[in-house]
Amino acid sequence: MDIKGKTIVITGGGQGLGRAMAVYFANKGANLALIDLNQEALDATVAQCKEAGSDARAYICNVAEEDAVVSCFAQIDQDFEGIDGLINNAGITRDALFIKAKNGEIKSKMSFKQWQQVVDVNLTGTFLCGREAASHMILREKKGVLINISSISKEGNVGQTNYSATKAGVAAMAVTWAKELARYGIRAAAIAPGFIATEMVSSMKPEALAKIQGMIPANRLGEPEEIARTAAYIFETDYFNGRCIEMDGGLRV
Ligand code: CAA
Repeated sequence: MDIKGKTIVITGGGQGLGRAMAVYFANKGANLALIDLNQEALDATVAQCKEAGSDARAYICNVAEEDAVVSCFAQIDQDFEGIDGLINNAGITRDALFIKAKNGEIKSKMSFKQWQQVVDVNLTGTFLCGREAASHMILREKKGVLINISSISKEGNVGQTNYSATKAGVAAMAVTWAKELARYGIRAAAIAPGFIATEMVSSMKPEALAKIQGMIPANRLGEPEEIARTAAYIFETDYFNGRCIEMDGGLRV
């Protein structure tokens, strides 16, 4: 796919990887429909995209709510006369040990709320947005691309029972969609970033981050633009389908 002139939806477009991908794609001539809950952050991303000459618009929508997602994608489809790509990037962490015990006593457990919040946004949000984007692509006979942002944590990571489960889930959904949607000319893929220099990673417990940083063979955090470039590679490479690109500086064992 030639990115120039295409309409790409990015969830969680207000900050972090979402903003970096939006600006990168804007510089490649894409139109951007950016979804987030934070108006101020969205407006800042939209302004940066516009500066690059892109038609970029902000949409406030909770990706975990079915009705909101259905009407948001219908609006985007109408505003841009079609959707060519979706990056399912909106994601949250609620890190906690599964069970914390000391001297035979249970000190704490990951709460149901911590589990559910992460599942709602990362997994249900990806399901709903992927479904609606693909529906509009099919209706307009667009040979679109769906990208799910997974994580190195899909392999399992201490403190991330909830997040790891969702990130394995979104990688599996991309494979499923690639198989189901190929008949409509739609491709699907995933990216599994490692530890990237974003707000999400910098909000980690400093000791935990320092420990992980010391284990990255590349000896540094990844740059958001490196993930944006990976997403562009997927869009631009028509034979790439149903696979997950691991961008973690060699950290995964
Ligand atoms: N491996 C093994 N043991 C670990 C561990 C690890 N990676 N991390 C913590 N532990 C152990 C600690 O050593 C400690 O053991 P002791 O009691 O024997 O000292 C025990 O678990 C409790 O650890 P904490 O004191 O840290 O417990 P806490 O309740 O204060 O915090 C936590 C728990 C929130 C999970 C914290 O350890 C943490 O933040 N860990 C990092 C989680 C992480 O990697 N998050 C990634 C966020 S960025 C992201 O998600 C983006 C992406 O896609 C990668």
